[in-house]
Amino acid sequence: MGAIDSVWILMDLPNMLAESIMSIFFTLLLVMLMEEELRDHIERVKNALSDCSDERYLVERVTESTVSLLSKPLALPPENLKVPNEGYGRNLLYQDPDHGFVVMAMVWPPEGGTPIHDHGTWGVVGVNQGTLEVTNYSREDEGNVPGRAMLNTLGTISAGEGAAAFVFPPDEEIHKVWNATTERAVSIHTYGEAINNYNIFNLDKGTMGNLEVSYT
Ligand SMILES: [Fe+2]
Repeated sequence: MGAIDSVWILMDLPNMLAESIMSIFFTLLLVMLMEEELRDHIERVKNALSDCSDERYLVERVTESTVSLLSKPLALPPENLKVPNEGYGRNLLYQDPDHGFVVMAMVWPPEGGTPIHDHGTWGVVGVNQGTLEVTNYSREDEGNVPGRAMLNTLGTISAGEGAAAFVFPPDEEIHKVWNATTERAVSIHTYGEAINNYNIFNLDKGTMGNLEVSYT
């Protein structure tokens, strides 16, 4: 390195330092804002769980809270936006020690999606970034033959940023979600409990099985 280069770096040092400090400041501000918005959502869900004996009303309140949370895009740090090499990312943001509900960030690469599945608990999904397709199904058989399940396709909705929807067992919970676009999508999910496995369904074969899932 020549003398002129050294002088230039020394002259530029205050600017570089200022840029670094500003970058750190804005990152911290982003994290603080994210935490505040998420904290507010978590408090609203806790209050709803404490207030509501009617689960249907509870889910409607969590849906309202999710719409409020995502009224403007939620900034998430990279550690909450992990995605595996295959499939979609399941990032745990919060698990409540008292009520057991969880808040997660799902990251959907282009063409990424779920099989047809249920949850076994109520759940609310809100789109934070991009667009997701959601297809809902009803179960048409009695559920008395192990491994068999006859489904009827109810319809598909396209959910854009800020949109929220819920699943509510036992009759409104079988669905699949996928990203049909060429851009990454991110959604925020609140579930009544941690989900470690769920039922998966094959529409054409009329069969069902079980799938274990883990956090990314
Ligand atoms: Fe789901």
